[in-house]
Amino acid sequence: MVVVCADILSDGARETVDMIRAAGGSAEAATVDVTEPASASELAALLKKRFGRCDVLVNNAAMFMGNKRSTGMTVEIEYWRRMFRVNLDGPLIMTQALAPLMIENGWGRIVNQASTAAYMYSGDPYGVSKGAVITLTLGLSVELAPKGVTVNAIAPGPIPTEALLSVVDEARLDGLKQATPVSRLGTTADLIHGLRYLVSENAGWITGQTLVIDGGWAKRY
Ligand SMILES: NC(=O)c1ccc[n+]([C@@H]2O[C@H](COP(=O)([O-])OP(=O)(O)OC[C@H]3O[C@@H](n4cnc5c(N)ncnc54)[C@H](O)[C@@H]3O)[C@@H](O)[C@H]2O)c1
Repeated sequence: MVVVCADILSDGARETVDMIRAAGGSAEAATVDVTEPASASELAALLKKRFGRCDVLVNNAAMFMGNKRSTGMTVEIEYWRRMFRVNLDGPLIMTQALAPLMIENGWGRIVNQASTAAYMYSGDPYGVSKGAVITLTLGLSVELAPKGVTVNAIAPGPIPTEALLSVVDEARLDGLKQATPVSRLGTTADLIHGLRYLVSENAGWITGQTLVIDGGWAKRY
């Protein structure tokens, strides 16, 4: 299996490739802008030429909430549009480009990265865009299921990645930890276990679902 790490930042994609190779895996980097259908189609053509197939698509690219937290009433419309272009148009554009390669083989797995922010009701565009990702997942799952392709989402709670650490300080991080019933923050490994299951052969009867991986943080009952 070869992992193709596609990112708008070629350095970031190459960094991930290096990590996968150092762990003994096979990976290649590609520069892709998920908001541009032409860029997604170029990736599809490259995969077809290079490997003849695409089995799994993980729609991970996103614009994070950044420092500009806002509500439905205060958000600047240009910021809202930019957020939706990456976080919602992105997974749709990538699915439109890559699902046809899966349909050719009658088998595929698509996993969209949502967030527990979808359940936080602040009106912040990040949370609203992730709520829309959950609904998009459901819609695409119904359309693609008869073609052998499942579409699910993962909604992580706070994971101290570089992106999160750039917007929260130590005190806030500690507050997040205290508020998490499983008294620790999440790790990327926590997400990977869920992802591996959703893309496995055994998960063939699971589609349209959102797997919340958050140590109970969002407290959804
Ligand atoms: N870290 C968390 O606490 C957390 C929690 C819930 C959900 N998530 C979600 O997990 C995913 C990864 O988050 P992360 O913390 O690693 O953030 P991150 O900012 O490190 O990763 C996002 C990646 O998307 C890329 N990207 C942005 N715009 C793009 C575009 N137009 N085309 C292609 N690539 C683009 C960025 O270059 C970056 O590498 C995101 O979908 C995020 O919303 C993260």
